[in-house]
Amino acid sequence: MAKDFSLRFLLLCAFCVKLTVAVADEGMWVPMFLAKYNEADMQSKGLKLSADDIYSVNHASLKDAVVQFGGGCSAELISGEGLIFTNYHCGRSRVQSHSTLEQNYIEKGYWAMNRSEELSNPGLTVTFLVRMEDVTSEILKNVLPGMTEVERYTAIDKTSKQMEKKMVEDTHYEAKVKEFFGGNEYYIFITETYKDVRLVGAPPVSIGEFGGDTDNWMWPRHTGDFSLFRIYADSLNNPAEYSPNNKPYKPKKYFEVSMKELKEGDFTMVFGFPGRTQEYLTSYAVKQLVEEEDPLKISIREKRLAVMEKAMDADPQTKLNLHSKYAGIKNYYKKFIGESIGLKKVDAVQRKQELEKQFTEWLNANESRKTKYTNLLPELEKTYAEFAPYNKGVVLYNEAFTTLDFVTYVNSFAKLSDLLKKGVKREVLSVEVEKHTKYMRSFFKNYNQSLDLESAKHQIKAIINYMPEILTEKQKKKYRKDNEKYITTLFSGDLLDSLKSVATLNALIESEGPAQEGGGGKNKSDIVKSENGFGAYDLAFQFVSTVTQNFKEYVYPNYVKLDIKLDSLNRIYTQALREFQTDKLFYPDANSTLRLSYGKIEGYAPNDSVVYTPFTTIDGLIAKENPNDKEFIVPAKLKELYEKKDYGQYAVNGTVPVCFIASNHSTGGNSGAPVLNTQGQLIGTNFDRNWEGTAADVMYDPAMARNISVDIRYTLFIIDKFAGAKYLIDEMTIVR
Ligand code: ARG
Ligand code: ASP
Repeated sequence: MAKDFSLRFLLLCAFCVKLTVAVADEGMWVPMFLAKYNEADMQSKGLKLSADDIYSVNHASLKDAVVQFGGGCSAELISGEGLIFTNYHCGRSRVQSHSTLEQNYIEKGYWAMNRSEELSNPGLTVTFLVRMEDVTSEILKNVLPGMTEVERYTAIDKTSKQMEKKMVEDTHYEAKVKEFFGGNEYYIFITETYKDVRLVGAPPVSIGEFGGDTDNWMWPRHTGDFSLFRIYADSLNNPAEYSPNNKPYKPKKYFEVSMKELKEGDFTMVFGFPGRTQEYLTSYAVKQLVEEEDPLKISIREKRLAVMEKAMDADPQTKLNLHSKYAGIKNYYKKFIGESIGLKKVDAVQRKQELEKQFTEWLNANESRKTKYTNLLPELEKTYAEFAPYNKGVVLYNEAFTTLDFVTYVNSFAKLSDLLKKGVKREVLSVEVEKHTKYMRSFFKNYNQSLDLESAKHQIKAIINYMPEILTEKQKKKYRKDNEKYITTLFSGDLLDSLKSVATLNALIESEGPAQEGGGGKNKSDIVKSENGFGAYDLAFQFVSTVTQNFKEYVYPNYVKLDIKLDSLNRIYTQALREFQTDKLFYPDANSTLRLSYGKIEGYAPNDSVVYTPFTTIDGLIAKENPNDKEFIVPAKLKELYEKKDYGQYAVNGTVPVCFIASNHSTGGNSGAPVLNTQGQLIGTNFDRNWEGTAADVMYDPAMARNISVDIRYTLFIIDKFAGAKYLIDEMTIVR
């Protein structure tokens, strides 16, 4: 009887999968394909809008109210006057840049009380998607059978560049062709970037980062991770550099803000710019990630963070200077740990192996498939094994070498030196010298040499122990004799000496003295040249340039060669998987382009007997208060509001909701993205995921993956009751 039932259930299920196609809440869907693949499924789950309301090229749609913020985050328009919400942690470095120890907006928060108090942020941009198109056939038409991977890449690059240029001729738009499904498909994105984006408001760090690193990547959460900015435009509403004459941008579309009740099970969407996922990797790649790459990154960052902590605890100015940088390093340090735990928990490697077994059976069942994909998996396995040591080298180089401040500095200086070795026109050189002098000034303003040295002791050791060949014989000898002393000596020369060198350079540029040869037919006296470039006799300079050069010579080429091979094999594998799993609807990996995820508000059960509900409240926040722990301080004003229950219109059942979780597939880059209800109204701002759930970057498990959002009602409560900036709320369209 039971058996009979399960058989019928199976048959039924096979049938319904075919009908509805999309399963669970996995997927970061491409806006232009929503009508084709997702609309029916989304509506069956509660969506009241059409796909065309979400993405349209013919009229204003929700996509016109979503922007990529500062390159790496998302944000949403919430008023007709260019006001946007993003996360606190996305705006944090801007808040920091306006802060001093006397006027510390990180500690106190910042609230513009009128337009003239909004603070401009050089370099900060927001980007709109104007439209996208599938250009696969045009892009691939110049890819011919038998081309090597490099030839293929070159052909695609050339066609892409031509197309990008043509698509936006005579407009202020930009165009970019991006690969999807590992290079099986190509879409072009036409975008518009605004460059005058001003800080309007940010809560104090004790709200914006409440719970700090302890609560980061964790649920239950009580963080008010939001900030407000405003986009400015020229008099024609077009992008313009900062000018006091610019006007608030008038959006085509902005989100209504919903104060309606939220319940477990409610349909939700996240509309943002997820950065990178790798859902179609093989078991070999996942194994390498879990067993080698993540642990290596974790161990390097652990030491780096410990050194920074010591310096920050010792000096308040250092603490302020390093605030954002430290948070960034620690953020991914903790993510790598969660990802490893999560991937083990969902048996990612075994599940991939199982899939590969089925895939191989499917291949072997058919002669033409067998010939087409012959040897694909064994070849992937072999190539990943060859790739491992070089990948480790590159991870070390990126995490332990180029992250040292003096290395960044010397590398930038080396560019100048190289120019000089080659010989350079006086005008060009003077522009370069000016740029560099500016860079040096800002570099030395915050340079902490003793901190850099302490980090170097750990990091340089880690990289040399793994790749001794990056040193010259002479360097190796000295290093072996006393590695600590060797590293310390690198810091004994004064980097500031290079400032003097630039002074000399300036003199050279200005002098009318005889310049050296190398002008190739040009007026000789116009070319400045120096045999050794600059800094050639400086120890640190020598060290950085030999390590860089040897790394580029011995490690990097092998890495690149194998990486290209893996790209090609993975592209074929992704295609083969799509042929194999015909009843699965595939979505492309995240690649920093606009995507929609949908799911519902729901809790989860991470461990035996542990069950999480999906909402937190201000009562839970107060319960976490700890005046002796800097991560859990509750600002006095917030406590006062809590004690008086002064919640105004934001009260829900005698408390204020703070955060909620839902099963929307998200990743880094989705921070700041709007979280929307069935009518496309704003109910929260996405900012994080649960720890184990970060494994969804590689394998999504519906039981485990949750995104974390600040409840919009908490955001409004803080703006109104805590900051006294009700005028901002009056600017929004609130629906009840
Ligand atoms: N983990 C979230 C993300 O990846 C939030 C990070 C900001 N919060 C923090 N405590 N560092 O960006
Ligand atoms: N906190 C991430 C971000 O900054 C979002 C995530 O990884 O879930 O984009």
